[in-house]
Amino acid sequence: MHLAELLFVSSLSVATFALDNGVMRVPPMGWLAWERYRCDIDCDHDPKNCISENLFMEMADRLSEDGWRELGYVYVNIDDCWSSMKRDDNGRLQADPKRFPGGIHKLARYMHDRGLKLGIYGDMGTHTCGGYPGTTLDKIELDAQTFADWEVDMFKFDGCYSNATEQEQGYPLMSKALNATGRPIGYSCSWPAYQGGLPPKVNYTQLGEICNLWRNYGDIQDSWDSVLNIINWFFENQDVLVSAAGPGKWNDPDMLIAGNFGLSMEQSRSQMAIWAIMAAPLFMSNDLCTINSGARSILQNKIAIGINQDPMGIQGRRILKEKSGIDVYWRPLSKNASALVFFSRRNDMPYRYQTSLSKLNYTTGSYQIYDAFTEKTMTLKDSTSFVVSVNPTGVVMWYVSAPAKRNIRQFYRGGRLQGSLFDDDENAISPVFL
Ligand code: GLA
Repeated sequence: MHLAELLFVSSLSVATFALDNGVMRVPPMGWLAWERYRCDIDCDHDPKNCISENLFMEMADRLSEDGWRELGYVYVNIDDCWSSMKRDDNGRLQADPKRFPGGIHKLARYMHDRGLKLGIYGDMGTHTCGGYPGTTLDKIELDAQTFADWEVDMFKFDGCYSNATEQEQGYPLMSKALNATGRPIGYSCSWPAYQGGLPPKVNYTQLGEICNLWRNYGDIQDSWDSVLNIINWFFENQDVLVSAAGPGKWNDPDMLIAGNFGLSMEQSRSQMAIWAIMAAPLFMSNDLCTINSGARSILQNKIAIGINQDPMGIQGRRILKEKSGIDVYWRPLSKNASALVFFSRRNDMPYRYQTSLSKLNYTTGSYQIYDAFTEKTMTLKDSTSFVVSVNPTGVVMWYVSAPAKRNIRQFYRGGRLQGSLFDDDENAISPVFL
């Protein structure tokens, strides 16, 4: 084969590997209206008028002024109930003029002016889940072009009011149509959630080729029961899900709900830590104007975010589910580092869990540990037995450095070889965390 042919063929095979729009090489982060606001978008903030665009602009102001944007929270995503009940005379979707008097394009500009991005919602089917106009097969190209014209950066394609056959055509077609607009638009597919989330009905290889992220399972609600139910499903099915994820293609266990009404601080930390292990998209759904400082510091935790955003993009696993009610989760990270989460399902009292790194499959060596929530560091040898105290429904989360290497710079004193030192550079905590 000639070199040119070879290059062409190999570029084809790369193109079929992952959605080739260049976006979301690490899990996307931002804010999404649905869990907290549903269709009541902006009655909290503006009870008389309920003008939704104000809510999105206020959240954008908070993201850009309260330190969120710098940490990676850049998407501001509209969910259902944004559109008018009727398409316009050209068959295009249009925003409800009362809720979005400025229109979607202007809102996108508002985001872009602040270094943020705008996401929007649609539905593969006759109607959205909330009963607004859906995108049937014949409307896919038109709607993709409309979103691109509005300079939208992300699109969530829900799946109410369509059957499996229509979805099988519609989701890949929308991927093509979005690509064809020439605008990089992150593509979130709800398809697997409508097909039970598991093979053989769900083809994760194909999803990775056409979507940047996908909802696998049911909707999150503002309760610990709901979070726990999601955690259980994702880790019971981890053998299927872990291999589906990677740069540009992510499993989506749904929004972060810290800052609302249903989770304690411990539970908020647990959600944040486990979402980081899962390489999950981090979309908060809360009120950033009134969020308390505890929830804010959990959602802004640099270690948890750093672990979530690791460039290797390998989704972590549950490695132990102990009878005591302690689960241990592990995620490999770049630079030969890793993350560990100890999670308690108990409801009684802090549990003292005893183990060692070698019991958790770590190889011989000395490791630096950085505790994400207490911000304490320590050095641990693989063989050293240690105890972590895990609060009920809470977590302990560790960033674990690469094992220290024996330093080859052996030194002589008095003419005799004195042995070797540990090379501290090798297993230092990555400076991005400190
Ligand atoms: C479905 C989705 C939710 C939300 C609603 C909107 O239930 O799973 O995330 O988008 O529809 O109606």
